[in-house]
Formats: sequence, C-alpha cells, structure tokens
Amino acid sequence: MKLFHYIIQGRVWRSIFRTGLPETNYRRSLVILNNFFLHIHPAKVKKSTLKFTTTFYLGGIAFGLYLILLVTGIYLMLYYRPSVPLAYRDMKDLEFVVSNGKLLRNLHRWSAHAMVFIVFLHMLRVFFTRAFHPPKEFNWVIGVFLIIFTLLLSYTGYLLPWDQLAYWGVSVGTNMIKATPIMGEKIRFLLLGGNFVSENALLRFYVLHCVVIPLFLTLLIGVHFWRIRKDGGLQGDLEHYAEYEPDIILGKNIRVEQRESPNQSLVGTGNDENK
Ligand code: HEM
Repeated sequence: MKLFHYIIQGRVWRSIFRTGLPETNYRRSLVILNNFFLHIHPAKVKKSTLKFTTTFYLGGIAFGLYLILLVTGIYLMLYYRPSVPLAYRDMKDLEFVVSNGKLLRNLHRWSAHAMVFIVFLHMLRVFFTRAFHPPKEFNWVIGVFLIIFTLLLSYTGYLLPWDQLAYWGVSVGTNMIKATPIMGEKIRFLLLGGNFVSENALLRFYVLHCVVIPLFLTLLIGVHFWRIRKDGGLQGDLEHYAEYEPDIILGKNIRVEQRESPNQSLVGTGNDENK
C-alpha cells in the first residue's frame, strides 16, 4: 500500500495522471475530462440512458464488432497476398495450414456479417425512438454515411478470396453499377481498373477494403461519437432535448416549463396544467 501511494504521489505518475484518485464527484469528472480515451463521454451521464432498453447497446456492439474486424483484418493481412495466382491459395492455406487460421478467417467473416445486421438494427432503434430529430439530425446524416461505408467495406471484402462466389458476386454487382445512367460505365471502369473483373480489380478492392474505407469509417465513427456528446447525450435526455424541440416532448404529454432558476427542471408532466 505504501509503495502504491509512493508511486501515485511521485512526479512521473502525476505528470501523466493529473487529477489524483477519483474519490469525489468533482475528481471523477476531472478524470473523464482529462483522459484522452474517456473524454468522448460527457462528464455526467443520465442513468436512464444507460438502461439496456434505451439503446439495446446496439451502437456499442457495432463499434465492438468494428474493433474485432480491425484486429482480425490486420492479422489476416499477414497471410494474404492480393494477386490472382496467390489470393485463393492463401485463403486455402489459412484454412488448412496456418494454426487457428480458420478461426481467424471466420471471426472476420462473421463479425462483418454481424456488423451489417447490427448497424441496421441500430438505425431502426434510432428511427423508432425519434432520436434523429433536432439537434441530432446531423448525426443521423453521419449515420447514413456510416451504413453506406459499412456496406462498402463488406462488399469490397467479398472479392478478396478470389473464389467463384467472389468473382461472380462482384461481376454482378459492378454490372448493376454499369446500369446507372450517364456515370455508370465510368464508375465501373474506375472501380475495376478495366472493363472486367481482373487482377487490377483485385488490387483496387484490396486497397479500398484495407486502407481507404477503414480510414473514412474510423474518422466518421469519431465524429459520430463526438456529436452524441455535443448533442447532449442520448435520446433518454429529455431535459436537454426539450430546449431544442419542445413540440416533440409535448407530443409525449410532457410539458416544458419556463426555467426560472438554473437548478429548476425543464420538464414537467402535461397533467400539471390543470392544477
Ligand atoms: C459503424 C456504424 C455505427 C456505429 C459504430 C454507431 C455507434 C453509435 C453509438 C455507440 C451510439 C450511442 C449508443 C447507442 O445508441 O447505441 C450511437 C448513437 C446514435 N447513432 Fe449510431 N452508430 C453507427 C451507425 C449509425 C447509423 C447507420 C445511424 C443512422 C442512420 C446512426 C445514428 C445515430 C444517432 C442519431 C445516434 C444518437 C441516438 C440518441 O441520441 O439516442 N448511427 N451510435
């Protein structure tokens, strides 16, 4: 215990962790605000927003799956080479030669499928709890880009095993793009690096899948989280919400009171009116 106190009172420790032990509410807030990883959270969070049934933790689960995809994806890159003679062989080696290779590949595959599904469910949750209303409409727009990039990530990964399913799946998909008026053929040419699915397409999809799309997605997820914080937390926060769009709160039979003192609550029940 003495050693512990000696360390946390030492100069090195205090130069990194400046707030001391989180023994009081004030200190706890400082710990959150001063920590690079934690400061994405508001210093205070309403209990109601932490309830499972408020969000079903779908956004958090989507983020968790994305982290699994990043870690397993980097691992897979150590065994996979994006060229026509090697890609399919590398996938087979992964399944039958590399220790735990099958587990690694399946973890990546299933997390990818699950992420698409969970992000879609998360979007439904946001929609049905009307959490896209002001001030959150910008975060909804970011969310739309997030689901597009999630689908693109999934689609570009589809070609990489270079098996029959991948080849024909991407042939069909890019032919559908070709049907887009005016720009269709040009977009297909750009995506494939030619007029048919070949080595160029494999390399392009590889770069998009492993570098370009994850970069955009990571950046957008950062903005998405930052916006949740700046919009006053999750939908459960009716008080904050009422300041922006009282009508929505009124619609739920909750009346917005004129705030007389800073400590007074903004939200009352509609029934108060008759008193
Ligand atoms: C990569 C995909 C995504 C990730 C990792 C993600 C993550 C999150 C997390 C962790 C939350 C807070 C907790 C929760 O609501 O579960 C959240 C909230 C939110 N998300 Fe997403 N999200 C994603 C996609 C989307 C999509 C596709 C939309 C809509 C088109 C969307 C719109 C929103 C909105 C509006 C909120 C605030 C909800 C509220 O205030 O109650 N997100 N997101």
